[in-house]
Amino acid sequence: MPEKLRVGVLASGGGTNLQTIIDNCTAGRINAEVVVVISDVQCGALERARKAGIPAEHIDRRDKQRCPTREAFDRIVLKCLRAHDAELVCLAGYLRIMTRELVDAYAGRMINIHPALLPSFGGKDMWGHHVHQAVLDYGCKVSGCTVHVVWLETDGGPIILQRAVPVEEDDTPETLAARILPHEHQLYSQAIQLFAERRLKIEGRRVRILPSSQR
Ligand code: GRF
Repeated sequence: MPEKLRVGVLASGGGTNLQTIIDNCTAGRINAEVVVVISDVQCGALERARKAGIPAEHIDRRDKQRCPTREAFDRIVLKCLRAHDAELVCLAGYLRIMTRELVDAYAGRMINIHPALLPSFGGKDMWGHHVHQAVLDYGCKVSGCTVHVVWLETDGGPIILQRAVPVEEDDTPETLAARILPHEHQLYSQAIQLFAERRLKIEGRRVRILPSSQR
C-alpha cells in the first residue's frame, strides 16, 4: 500500500463534505489522511476537524493586523498548508476567492466540489442556495455536482468527475440541495481516491482518468 496522501482542506461552512472525507480516510476507503483544516471563519468544519483530532486553523479574515490584504491572508494559508506538508488541497465549501500565488502554488493539486453541472451555474456569485435557486429559475430538469481542478477563474478549472441528479417538479433550493449533497459526498471522495492513486492526468481542459492498472 503506497503512503497515504496528505490532504489539506479549506472550508467555510458546516463541513459535511469534510466529514465524509475524514470518515472515508479513517475507514480506508480513501488512501489519504486529512492533515489540516483551515477556515476563514469559525464554522462547523473546524469543529468537525477538532473532534477528529485534526489540526484546525482559524485564520480570521477580519483580523486586519494579521492579514491586511487578500495576499497576506493567502500567504498565511499557504504557510499553514506547507507546514503540514499538504500534497493535495480540497476546497469543501470554501467561500473565499483565492490569489494567484496560492492557486499557482498548488497548480494541479487543488480541487473543488461545486453543487451543479459546470460550466453552468458556476462563478463568483454562485454558491450555496444561489446555485440551486438559479437552476430552478432557469427551469432545468437536471442538476448535479462537479469535482474540478482549481484554476484562478472561479469554478473554471478542468472537470474531474460529474454526476447528474434530477430536478423534481416541486423542488425548492433546499430540497434540491439536499438531494444533491449525498452525491457530492460520494463524488468528492472518489476524486480524492483517484488522485491518491495517481490516476488523474490533466491535459489542457481535459482530465483523463487512467485505468487502475496503468500508472
Ligand atoms: C457544498 O454544497 C459544496 O458543493 C459547496 O459548498 C457546500 C459545502 O457544504 N461548494 P458542506 O460545508 O460540505 O456541508
